[in-house]
Amino acid sequence: MQDELIAWYKQHHRVFPWRQDSNPYHIWISEIMLQQTTTEAVIPYYQRFLEAFPDIISLAQASLEEVYKLWEGLGYYRRAKYLHETANIIVEEYDGRFPTEYEDILSLKGIGEYTAGAISSIAYGNPTPAVDGNVLRIMSRVYLLKENIASSKTQKQIYEIVKELLVGKDASSFNQGLMDLGAMICRPRHPRCQQCPLRFDCQACQQHQQEVLPVNIKKIRHQEQSYITAVITYQDRFLLLKNKEGLLENLYGCVQYELESPYSFVEQFQRDFHADLKICSFIKDIKHVFTHRTWFMHVYHFELLKEMDNMYTLDQIKELPLSTAHMKVLHAYLKEE
Ligand code: ADE
Repeated sequence: MQDELIAWYKQHHRVFPWRQDSNPYHIWISEIMLQQTTTEAVIPYYQRFLEAFPDIISLAQASLEEVYKLWEGLGYYRRAKYLHETANIIVEEYDGRFPTEYEDILSLKGIGEYTAGAISSIAYGNPTPAVDGNVLRIMSRVYLLKENIASSKTQKQIYEIVKELLVGKDASSFNQGLMDLGAMICRPRHPRCQQCPLRFDCQACQQHQQEVLPVNIKKIRHQEQSYITAVITYQDRFLLLKNKEGLLENLYGCVQYELESPYSFVEQFQRDFHADLKICSFIKDIKHVFTHRTWFMHVYHFELLKEMDNMYTLDQIKELPLSTAHMKVLHAYLKEE
């Protein structure tokens, strides 16, 4: 898959001003600006910044005020302060030359694991992973990883996979290829699998799980509940159950379990209802606040393989007393379909 991704990147990459050369100073400035900011917003700032400060020395010699002025409107201003500080440290400790080793780059202020990996691979071709949300999503699909990508265990696992994939490859094109694939093809919702260079390598695509993966369930606080909430259909009917007791007594609602994966939902549902479900797609994360409680509903669409009791058409649902939380869920589903 590496060679396919690299070839695709060379042909289809997005054109950005920071891709005109691999000067580490240019790459550093761009990667800092691209932290929490879109490429579109960054372009004019990047150009003005480099005109004002064409190299590390000029940045180090500028006043902090001048640096802030060029950052105005870009947000997260601590980034500007760290750039200025770090330029001075590079002048003092690295003789004005941007460090070439990953560990040295990582030790600089404002540079975490992702940014260090990106700079080190793009500027020097070092085989260092740059794993962000895009890469977690792509890898969970290509390798059909059904584990929660919000957990650090899964993130470590994916980091190791990427590290292995980089051995002996053009790390700059590979890492930037993942960035562009994530932005243009392997998008969070409705990925363009027909145009994807990895469609034959991708296990999610082969098994039609690209609309379900990645599983991305964030940790929650006390007083909060996190559910897999199901819109379960069979032809034009929806499964709704009447709540027997509790918060929403007598109201109708969707089936939901306090679980962390739609795949475990299917197993629990089979145990409780003796019916088989197919996972069709992730719909949306919905937060619903009650007086003393908050629900985080991770809404998925499932299809029943055969009809069950308690199934209603949309016209019938209009006449049923439904909880507001699950009304939102049905609306989200209908909007998507
Ligand atoms: N996001 C973070 N780094 C990027 C880069 N080098 N190109 C495009 N998008 C990015």
